[in-house]
Amino acid sequence: MHICLDQDIHKGIAVNTSGLRIPVTFVSKDGEEIPIQVPIGMSMLEAAHENDIELEGACEGLLACSTCHVIVMDMEYYNKLEDPADEENDMLDLAFGLTETSRLGCQIVASPELDGIRLAIPAATRNFSVDGYVPKPH
Ligand code: FES
Repeated sequence: MHICLDQDIHKGIAVNTSGLRIPVTFVSKDGEEIPIQVPIGMSMLEAAHENDIELEGACEGLLACSTCHVIVMDMEYYNKLEDPADEENDMLDLAFGLTETSRLGCQIVASPELDGIRLAIPAATRNFSVDGYVPKPH
């Protein structure tokens, strides 16, 4: 596990400021790997925006668009996620480049089990292989 604790050392005392974070890697449309730290409880959409990662989120997490589509690169992590709600599946059906491990970034919330998860931003997936990548028929 690579969980880091935010620590407040201002007064010379190490205090856990409830800042548990997990390492997450986004892979951009160009195939660039962008490692970030995401606080537990934060959605991957918010985390991407906080780190200037180009992931759209037109409806700001209201399950009314599919612009926050990401591909979970490892099946192992995909299987750790809660099953998508019907609303999420409906939106995913509209997403470009849907795969078996596609999810909406606004619906993936950082938790300790997701330590090390890698998420690809779809347009990049044509040029590199993604573990478990299987195009899904419509
Ligand atoms: Fe619209 Fe995620 S931001 S569904």
